[in-house]
Amino acid sequence: MITDTHSHLYDEQFDADRDDVLERARAAGIGRIFLPNINAETIEPMLALARQHPGFLYPMIGLHPEDLGTTWRDVLPRMEALLQDEHHPFIAVGEVGLDYYWDRSQYEEQQEALAIQVEWAQKYGLPLMIHSRSAHRELVNVLKNCQPRGVFHCFSGSAEVAEELLATFPDFMLGIGGVVTYKNSKLSEVLRRVVPIDRIVVETDSPYLSPVPYRGKRNETAYIIEVIRKLAEVYDVTPEEMAAKTTANALKTFPKCQ
Ligand code: NI
Repeated sequence: MITDTHSHLYDEQFDADRDDVLERARAAGIGRIFLPNINAETIEPMLALARQHPGFLYPMIGLHPEDLGTTWRDVLPRMEALLQDEHHPFIAVGEVGLDYYWDRSQYEEQQEALAIQVEWAQKYGLPLMIHSRSAHRELVNVLKNCQPRGVFHCFSGSAEVAEELLATFPDFMLGIGGVVTYKNSKLSEVLRRVVPIDRIVVETDSPYLSPVPYRGKRNETAYIIEVIRKLAEVYDVTPEEMAAKTTANALKTFPKCQ
């Protein structure tokens, strides 16, 4: 059974055929799909979808670093209020993090918003789904003073970065997606050299980042098979073993999904 730890299945790109996408995912052996939130507007569509598929789709709560806008100081308390309901459905705080790739105009604010959401993870006993781009040093600085648990989503860094993250954050996994299948990517070499098999989970980040041979098309959870196949090759195990191992790693990190 495979676990897709990161899919934006509530995205409007799936509006026309979402049921078919879910059917194909089940047929391909995917048993759980985790849904990271993006902003205030995505909460309701995400929750409505998760409610229709209990035990299959699992929502998270958090504000994406590229979506702070001008209202984030009002949005964050509204999100935290949802966590104060003891029966809330959220399995993690995410996706949250830092992104300085396109835009550094909210340099300080992104770190402030992340620190607040990292506190939620501690306070409500939840793991973190971390998005980080061009922000490695700042990310380590915000996270290092607590002992967080979670996933560094869409990891594609160097061996040095992988080693530092794994050593500094022993309760974190690296989220591996379509990038590992790209011919020009060094990720499989990095994984083989420095990342133990018990420190990875798999993800699609659908509708983005399709693996080969679907690169450039809309991504969907069923395509995660290509990531599993590639990782099985890298770690010299069978695809079934890789599916079981990455699911065990995911359940260890997201205990609410057991
Ligand atoms: Ni995402």
